[in-house]
Amino acid sequence: MKIVIGSDHAGYALKEKIIPYLTGEGYEPIDVGTYSTKSVDYPEIAAKIAKAIIKDGIRYGIGICGTGLGMDMALNKYKGIRAALCLYPYMAQMSKLDNDANVLVLAERLMGVELSFQIVTTFLNTKFSGLERHARRVKKIGELSI
Ligand code: RB5
Repeated sequence: MKIVIGSDHAGYALKEKIIPYLTGEGYEPIDVGTYSTKSVDYPEIAAKIAKAIIKDGIRYGIGICGTGLGMDMALNKYKGIRAALCLYPYMAQMSKLDNDANVLVLAERLMGVELSFQIVTTFLNTKFSGLERHARRVKKIGELSI
């Protein structure tokens, strides 16, 4: 399964650890940058992740920045993206079970590599529950507008 993955400079080091981890777990990571620790604006990377999911049909993405906050905010501007900033495996589990998240957001400055692997594995191994009440709420997210 293809997984699109991207980070800004503050998430670059963690991205470079997660890519081989994904490969080792049998996934095919699609790296949309950034490709060094040179400063880059996270919305530009979020746009590439969103495009890969919305236009190119890749099922799941991983976005990383320093705190996860900016990447999460930028990704959630796109209709069809449900990006979840997860600091614990439990958050990753619930983001799939209840919220049907399609992008996992990680925070390089707030987590170690081993914890990030646990969060990634939990996210990718958990399926949306499909329960009617959760499907209804997720549908409502997609319909939100002012
Ligand atoms: C970059 O310095 C930092 O602001 C960014 O990675 C992220 O934490 C923003 O939310």
